[in-house]
Amino acid sequence: MKYMILICCASLSFTGCGMSHGSGHENHASDNSTSKVVEGAFTTALPSIPEMSGSTRVLTAQTVRHDAGSATFEALGYSGSGILGPTLTANTGDVMSLTLQNRLAEGTNLHWHGLTVPPEQDGYPDSTTPPGGTNSYSFPILQRAGLYWYHPHAHGSTARQAYRGLAGLIRIADSAERGYRLPSGKDEVLLVLQDKRLSGSVLEYAPSSSDVMAGMLGETIFVNGAISPVATLRKGWSRLRVLNGSNARVFNLAMGDGTPLLVIGSDGGLLENAQSTGSILLAPGERVDVLVDLSRHASGTSTFLKSMPFSGGGIQGSQDFRLLKILIDSLVGDSSAPSLSFAPLALPVSTNSVRTRIFEMTAMAHGGGGHSMGGGMGMHQINGKSWDPRRVDDSVVAGRTEIWEFKNPSDEIHPVHIHGMQFGLLERTGGRAALSAHERGWKDTFVLLPGETVRAVIRFPNQPGLFLLHCHNLEHEDDGMMLQFRIFP
Ligand code: C2O
Ligand code: CU
Ligand code: CU
Repeated sequence: MKYMILICCASLSFTGCGMSHGSGHENHASDNSTSKVVEGAFTTALPSIPEMSGSTRVLTAQTVRHDAGSATFEALGYSGSGILGPTLTANTGDVMSLTLQNRLAEGTNLHWHGLTVPPEQDGYPDSTTPPGGTNSYSFPILQRAGLYWYHPHAHGSTARQAYRGLAGLIRIADSAERGYRLPSGKDEVLLVLQDKRLSGSVLEYAPSSSDVMAGMLGETIFVNGAISPVATLRKGWSRLRVLNGSNARVFNLAMGDGTPLLVIGSDGGLLENAQSTGSILLAPGERVDVLVDLSRHASGTSTFLKSMPFSGGGIQGSQDFRLLKILIDSLVGDSSAPSLSFAPLALPVSTNSVRTRIFEMTAMAHGGGGHSMGGGMGMHQINGKSWDPRRVDDSVVAGRTEIWEFKNPSDEIHPVHIHGMQFGLLERTGGRAALSAHERGWKDTFVLLPGETVRAVIRFPNQPGLFLLHCHNLEHEDDGMMLQFRIFP
């Protein structure tokens, strides 16, 4: 492995330079044995995350004690009880009203990942609520039923704040979804997958320069805040709705005993048709909605939700590890056949596109290495640019359709995320050379493995203002791998 020394200009006051960085070749973290997953005991019961509804919601960002089952530590949270905030529930068309109270020693804000929110309420990187302050959010929910999420978006602090515990789910329901036969109640399980690096009594965020390069990978897997937990599911059909809430780790989800995953939904809700698959590559920020048929499993037996190895991701994908133990209950749940086809999606169509724009996601070895005006080291860039709040990178018009083509000539994994809208994917070329099941619905985040190109088709919402476009590897994002565009009315 070769290294390159970045020489920093002495006249600039940036910090953190002058150390050695991975050269941009594969396996940046291969000398970093702590990024290998170490499984826990699978004896802690899977926590179900409390829900919060109504018009007087308050989230208080604060220091918390977190009990993860086999470890307890100090972290950050939105309620007194630990990492991860409550799941915010609402119906399409409702007004989301919420007050953020900041009891941290630093500024923070909220981003509504996947929702179309007025830009001044969407967690712009340099608009934060100061320590001791409060901020009120109030906007109508325009998205259809689906699983969305919230996390801070203060530039330079997004990765640290989210990693230390500030994140939560948003679950939107609508009448169309209620009209289908889908497993519900005990048979519908929301799962937040995250990896963290534990050391001592405080959950610290201290990435090395190679962690910034490849993304911060932790050795311990948390599901809903618990380390290697066990869920008890009834015989019959279960619906697993999964968020990858990790900073950088990609999971290749599969059932340990080969039970197929029936994909019914993606970031922006249900697909048109369920599609059966053996594994699902789920990158940071992405969600997937799957049905599993546990009716032929004997009660008292168990299986696992695991992450399988995958190729093309360097150090990521080299390991096979288990995420969640699934114990089959003696109680029989819903065994009648669930709905497998749903309403047409009406995704934007490429023939309406008025323009194609190209975005190249690059890492240092391919021409980066400048300084981000946002404060990162600028090792990761989009179209040769690092985040600069004073620059508007692209201008688009509400209601128009464009094709945005994202290329990954680097040897790193880049999950691409666009704020403020859901969009469709047309095709993937290079690498895996195909779209996967959960990429055939409404999306706000998708992953580019090294060498891949994905074409997205976007119809811009009638929500004028500035929106972000960035890599959802949060180390890359904070390093400046983020642009902004303005939607004109
Ligand atoms: Cu989930 Cu710009 O973020
Ligand atoms: Cu790199
Ligand atoms: Cu990236």
